[in-house]
Amino acid sequence: AFFHHSDGRLKGKKIVITAGPTREKIDPVRYLTNRSTGKMGYAIAQEAAKAGADVILISGPVSLAKPDGVQVIMVESAQEMYEAVISQFDDSDVVIKSAAVADYRPKHYADHKIKKQPGEQVIELERTKDILMELGQRKDKQVLIGFAAETENVGEYAQKKLMSKNADMIVANNVTESGAGFGTDTNIVTFYRNNGIAKEFPILSKKEVASKILDEVCLLLKEQH
Ligand code: CTP
Ligand code: CA
Repeated sequence: AFFHHSDGRLKGKKIVITAGPTREKIDPVRYLTNRSTGKMGYAIAQEAAKAGADVILISGPVSLAKPDGVQVIMVESAQEMYEAVISQFDDSDVVIKSAAVADYRPKHYADHKIKKQPGEQVIELERTKDILMELGQRKDKQVLIGFAAETENVGEYAQKKLMSKNADMIVANNVTESGAGFGTDTNIVTFYRNNGIAKEFPILSKKEVASKILDEVCLLLKEQH
């Protein structure tokens, strides 16, 4: 067997990880979604399992293989993701929200395929629940980690999210930088901690980023005791 320095460091810890996009249905054949592929969240789930954690991966629709030793719950919409996360929250030690959750969903679902008409079509949208914000309000001992995929003002927006969502850390990236966007095997991230410390990293594989995030999770778990 292979032994890695990280083996066992998260033993006994229940870690909930969300990954991928959500899909918000318009009619039976159409939906709204985004460019998330789930690679970052799946990499975190895989590394957390290797580190001995009990891992629950709550995943939107992606085309990735299930990581070894991980319990996967597949969901589609933001509402389904919300319900799955809430049902796992109370006895979890860590929640890592890498999913790209839709902020809006169609206000009305059409039971039949919408037929095209002459002229313009308007789809009314309503807000979905902000899962991370809700967790931030409910949290008791849980370590809460969010993501911020930005195209400008990365530090400012990430720090706002850290505060408004009551998270312990935000993993931020500028998705317009090459090597950092959706679907790549690499990422360029900065960690913003609620103690004011920011850590910038060079371009790394998503597996390496996952391992850095879990290093920070270990520190946060220790600090809470
Ligand atoms: N998030 C969530 N539920 C939502 C929207 C976002 O849990 N309905 C989480 C994401 O999983 C991520 C963090 O909040 O961990 C930040 O998501 P992001 O889309 O960057 O931020 P928003 O608060 O939605 O703000 P905006 O999209 O306007 O930048
Ligand atoms: Ca958003």
